[in-house]
Amino acid sequence: MSEQNFNNNKQPVDSSDRKSGENSLERIKNMSSDELINKYFKSTYQPPDIRKARKRYREEIEVHYDFTIPENVRNIGENRKFLIQTYGCQMNEHDSEVMAGILTEMGYTAANSEEEADVILLNTCAIRENAENKVFGQIGHLKQLKREKPDLILGVCGCMSQQETVVNRILEKHQHVDLIFGTHNIHRLPELIQEAMFAKASVVEVWSKEGDIFENLPKARQGNIKAWVNIMYGCDKFCTYCIVPMTRGKERSRRPEDIIQEVRHLAAEGYQEITLLGQNVNSYGKDFEDIEYRFGDLLNDIHKIDIPRVRFMTPHPRDFDDHAIEVLAKGGNLLDHIHLPVQSGSNEILRRMNRKYTRESYLELVRKIKEAIPNVTLTTDIIVGFPNETDEQFEETMTLVEEVGFESAYTFIYSPREGTPAAARKDETPMEVKRERLQRLNELVNKQAAESMQQYEGQTVKVLVEGESKRDPNVLSGYTEKNKVVNFKGPKSAIGKIIPVKITEAKTWSLDGKMVEKSIGVNS
Ligand code: 5AD
Ligand code: SF4
Repeated sequence: MSEQNFNNNKQPVDSSDRKSGENSLERIKNMSSDELINKYFKSTYQPPDIRKARKRYREEIEVHYDFTIPENVRNIGENRKFLIQTYGCQMNEHDSEVMAGILTEMGYTAANSEEEADVILLNTCAIRENAENKVFGQIGHLKQLKREKPDLILGVCGCMSQQETVVNRILEKHQHVDLIFGTHNIHRLPELIQEAMFAKASVVEVWSKEGDIFENLPKARQGNIKAWVNIMYGCDKFCTYCIVPMTRGKERSRRPEDIIQEVRHLAAEGYQEITLLGQNVNSYGKDFEDIEYRFGDLLNDIHKIDIPRVRFMTPHPRDFDDHAIEVLAKGGNLLDHIHLPVQSGSNEILRRMNRKYTRESYLELVRKIKEAIPNVTLTTDIIVGFPNETDEQFEETMTLVEEVGFESAYTFIYSPREGTPAAARKDETPMEVKRERLQRLNELVNKQAAESMQQYEGQTVKVLVEGESKRDPNVLSGYTEKNKVVNFKGPKSAIGKIIPVKITEAKTWSLDGKMVEKSIGVNS
């Protein structure tokens, strides 16, 4: 493993120095900050490099089942509180649950506010520039708190920490940050907190090489109704706009028996819904050398487990094979809502994005899915303003959205990410044009979303009730199988249950309804 560790008054120390103790600390105290960065960081850290990253070594991924919190840090968090602020995708949300689990085992309890916290971790996202800007804004905001409370440990982790430029910027300009660690180092949290705490110095540990799989990390899940389940880590697709293959590393699938055991436990604990997580879920199993077991096989096995709802995020159109479709068509707990990112409707843009499919092959996949699962709901992700996208190419995205009939879409303006191939291209399309395109696309998506909601008026749908509505505590809120929000009046005892609700009014992004008499049993 290439490992970096920075220590000693904002100055980096590598692991060997750490072990050899004070003499090394004295030695590095005399080095300039540039010397230190060159010696201990740049020499081992690999910044995003598409060519190097592509040469993914087929080294065996080790699966570890032996995580323990070291004896000497086990109670370090007693009478102390932690706060994790999460940015970005579900993968980050779930990583935060793991970090919360580790901190809880170290004796920490959850803080209700920044002021109350002894440890604040920012779990960051690098997917677009505005995600990064938000984090830098928050780092700046927390400077005052750190001044008032010098013992506070402020850590930055997640995808941003995997980027050398970000780490350098934090080291240079935000010296109140105590701890920086990457996405592959989460299992090292106990030791890292200890170092940050006792050395009273900034600690950086970022591994450029993707990690092994750690199976038995503790998790403090948010709530007891829905749960995330990682099935794989990393991404080997290398879409030319995307930083993820660099920040999350190569594809590594969890062993099927470990996933199935986790899902069984969740079912036994009474969870109602799981979402199988991965940057590219339907690449699942391609990296197994000893068994032939793919995403369709996993779905098939999970289909037999007694958990009411199973979702997955995010599949890649290129890897959607017939077997997965065939299994999904069995229904049951496999819900008929598929989020299938298309990104663009233009073949030329898809080619330049390295998406490895065409408009026609995407539409053919949609046709197959609709044929096998006639009631299916499709949603998607779309990027507008990829470098030099023409008006005509954008129009092809608009017509594709209509043709597929997406019921909703996450839409983004392309954001150049340093180290990705697309960012190196000169882009002639003005931002104003990109904004107009986004607005037009959003209007179309909103129109289709509103139309799709209309069909539910008068229908009875199954709602997994999650809690009180944010706006009105007298109203309960939950999700249908197709992931539509439903608000209705009902007893608190309905929370955590799946109940029938009759839809009285459709809005663009939510449905209002009335509890069906039959479900009154939830009162008991
Ligand atoms: N700019 C804009 N959107 C991006 N996405 C990924 N990278 C970028 C980028 N550089 C979008 C894609 C992806 C979603 C998670 O984020 O649509 O599916
Ligand atoms: Fe990024 Fe998804 Fe493409 Fe992987 S498949 S490179 S995560 S957009």
